[in-house]
Amino acid sequence: MSEGLFSNDLLSPAVSAALPEGYIIRPLRRSDYNTGYLDCLKVLTTVGDIQEDKFQERYDLLASRPGSYYILIVEDTIRSRVVGTGALIVEHKFIHNLGQVGHIEDIAVAKDQQGKKLGLRIIEALDYIAEKVGCYKSILDCSEANEGFYVKCGFRRAGLQMAHYY
Ligand code: ACO
Repeated sequence: MSEGLFSNDLLSPAVSAALPEGYIIRPLRRSDYNTGYLDCLKVLTTVGDIQEDKFQERYDLLASRPGSYYILIVEDTIRSRVVGTGALIVEHKFIHNLGQVGHIEDIAVAKDQQGKKLGLRIIEALDYIAEKVGCYKSILDCSEANEGFYVKCGFRRAGLQMAHYY
């Protein structure tokens, strides 16, 4: 079991072994409000001024939907800081014989930690979870500027993203 959002059994041993010394990969915890999780996400986009009670509320909502939200943290254990994160959201379908699709979202590596293969390890770890929980594929949307990163992670261009913003 785990004190985090999902079971430690879903963590890839190969990814843990491949991380630089002093870094671990683990599920998001309620306590990550105080370890720099939201700051880490700021390299990705606007996060907003989220108060701790609202953070806990959102955490509890995700935790109340087991089998759906898998948010990973890479922690620098020397500084006890979040330096990377990524999410897998599992969609439970009727098609493809009750198939499951993984949606990879919100991949972020702190600016001063980029280029150490942490992003690659996060994707590998999310792929491991997706396969283990029974997804038949994982998909994601990204900018042209990040296409090369995802190609290095083994993804290929497929389809076209469209959006309505509300
Ligand atoms: N374009 C092309 N290649 C890249 C890019 C890029 N933008 N970024 C990294 N790579 C390459 C690296 O050079 C490396 O190649 P190598 O194996 O030949 O050495 C390989 O991809 C793996 O790179 P990592 O070191 O694992 O990348 P990093 O840890 O820096 O993480 C990331 C990459 C996540 C894109 C990081 O730069 C970041 O957080 N950027 C800001 C936030 C962001 O854009 N996130 C992705 C949004 S899309 C989504 O969330 C689904």
